[in-house]
Amino acid sequence: MNRDALKRAAALRAIEEIEDGMVLGLGSGSTAEFAVEALGKRVAQGLEIVAIPTSERTAALARRLGVRISSFAEHRRLDLTIDGADEVERGTLDLIKGKGGALLREKIVAAASARLVIVVDSGKLVDRLGERSPVPVEVTAFGWQATAFALEKLGSIPRLRTVASGEPFLTDGGNLILDCDFGPIDDAAALEARIATTVGAIESGLFVGRTSAVVMASEEGVAMLKGGPA
Ligand code: A5P
Repeated sequence: MNRDALKRAAALRAIEEIEDGMVLGLGSGSTAEFAVEALGKRVAQGLEIVAIPTSERTAALARRLGVRISSFAEHRRLDLTIDGADEVERGTLDLIKGKGGALLREKIVAAASARLVIVVDSGKLVDRLGERSPVPVEVTAFGWQATAFALEKLGSIPRLRTVASGEPFLTDGGNLILDCDFGPIDDAAALEARIATTVGAIESGLFVGRTSAVVMASEEGVAMLKGGPA
C-alpha cells in the first residue's frame, strides 16, 4: 500500500467517530483532507454536523464538499477534532504538528475540543519527539530575529520557513514560522511551556497531553491507540 492509501485508511476509520449533531474541528494537511473528503460524502448522505476548519485551505475544501462551516462566534466548545500530525510519540501520544503551517489554529481548535483524534500512517510514530521533525514555532514578523535568538538559547537551531521564491512563508494569520531543530526532546511539556513564555513566540507545534486517540494505518491494518486526557 502506498502512503496515501494508508492515510486514507486512517481517515476513513476516524470519521466513524462522527455522529449526528456534532460540532467538529477539521484539521489541516494531506491526511486530514482525506478525512474531510470522507466527511463530505457522509454529509451528502444526510449527516448533520457543523465544522470549524483549522486553515483557509481546509475551509475551502469543506465548503466545496457542502460541509456547513461554523466559527467560535457560534460555538465555544467542539465535540471532536480530527487532525493529522508530523510526529506521534509512542506511549505518550504527544505530537509535533505544523509542517503545513496551521499549528496555531490547530492548537486553538484542539484546546476547545472534547476529543482530539489524530490520523497518521505508521511512518509518523517515533520513540521521542524531535527525532525527525523540527518544532515549528509561529512568531510575529516584528523582531523575528530576536525571537529566533531566544529560541536558539533554548537549545534549538531555528530556521525561518520560506516558500519556493525564497520569501518568508506566511501563516493564515500573517505570521512567520521558525522551524526549530531541538533534536530528540527529553521533556516535551517543559519545552512547550518554555517556548510559550518566549517573547515574540505565538505558539509552538508541540501538542502535549492533548491527544485522545491516534488512528494509525500500517501495512498490517488500522489500529486505534488510546491516549491520556482531553
Ligand atoms: C498542518 O499544519 C500540520 O499540523 C499537519 O497536520 C501535519 O503536517 C500533517 O500533515 P500530513 O497529513 O500532510 O502529513
